[in-house]
Amino acid sequence: MIVFLNGKYLEARSAQVGLFDGGYLYGDGVFETMRLYAGRPFDLAGHLARLDVNLAALDFAWRPGPGAIADIVAELVRRNGLADRDARCRLNVSRGGAPEDPLPLEGLGDLAPTVSAWAEALGPHLGAWQREGVGVAVLREGFRRGNSPGVKSLNYLPTVLALREARRRGCAEALICDESDRLLEGATSNVFVVRGGRLATPPLSRGLLGGRTRALVIEAAARLGVPCDETDVTAAGAAAADEVFLCGSVKEIVPVTAIDDAPVGDGAPGPVTRRLQEAYRRGVRDSLGGGAGGPAAAPD
Ligand SMILES: Cc1ncc(COP(=O)(O)O)c(C=O)c1O
Repeated sequence: MIVFLNGKYLEARSAQVGLFDGGYLYGDGVFETMRLYAGRPFDLAGHLARLDVNLAALDFAWRPGPGAIADIVAELVRRNGLADRDARCRLNVSRGGAPEDPLPLEGLGDLAPTVSAWAEALGPHLGAWQREGVGVAVLREGFRRGNSPGVKSLNYLPTVLALREARRRGCAEALICDESDRLLEGATSNVFVVRGGRLATPPLSRGLLGGRTRALVIEAAARLGVPCDETDVTAAGAAAADEVFLCGSVKEIVPVTAIDDAPVGDGAPGPVTRRLQEAYRRGVRDSLGGGAGGPAAAPD
């Protein structure tokens, strides 16, 4: 795999970040993960807008120049033979650090950040997840992304722990709850429930990531005439819902067919989820102009 690191394209194994990098020492950095359809990034502008907000939140002065990230993505696609593949692309920005000042507290704007990116083809499991749905585990105390959950920072230890725990329980994803049993988000996704034909998703004010896909699902629902409330959803409410689904840039929309081993609804992906999956794909196709860049090659 060829990756991008600080202006250079390198073999992944030889791409190295310094010991005093703030991302490595403290999780001081931000990232984006985008989906590439036949080599083309979807919603690049949306991801870059969020990246800008997150860079500002952590006092990074660096901003990518116009077109710079699109050029990096195109080069990664070319060098890794991903032009006909569906892939994920990660863009990572962390605090450059030096042994003289391992914990920089001021003059942050003068520090050159570490900027890296890589892209890899999607694994085979996603198509099955989207078609058949997945089981999830509800996780409570200790798995919530703590400080600044609205920032897509490199502090993802709770997420890693949540995914490991979900795996231990034989589940594909975890649903993270707050202390009052309100759902917040998936470990690496946002969550929606369907009740009586209405969608509900936890409000950003509860402390969760404003997923790009979450925003696009809300728009797609409006286009379809499906009402959507940004409102509290408890774990018990999700278990009793007609349908539940997860969403994220790479996952798109994945039905949840079981929560803690109990079936959701009749245990099969529901009709509202199916309509939204199709509407989301249409949105991708429209945005990328169809043809080779459309999601025809996406798993379905
Ligand atoms: C904690 C969390 N919530 C939600 C999402 C979904 O975000 P997006 O739709 O922007 O990919 C992610 C994606 O990785 C995430 O890590």
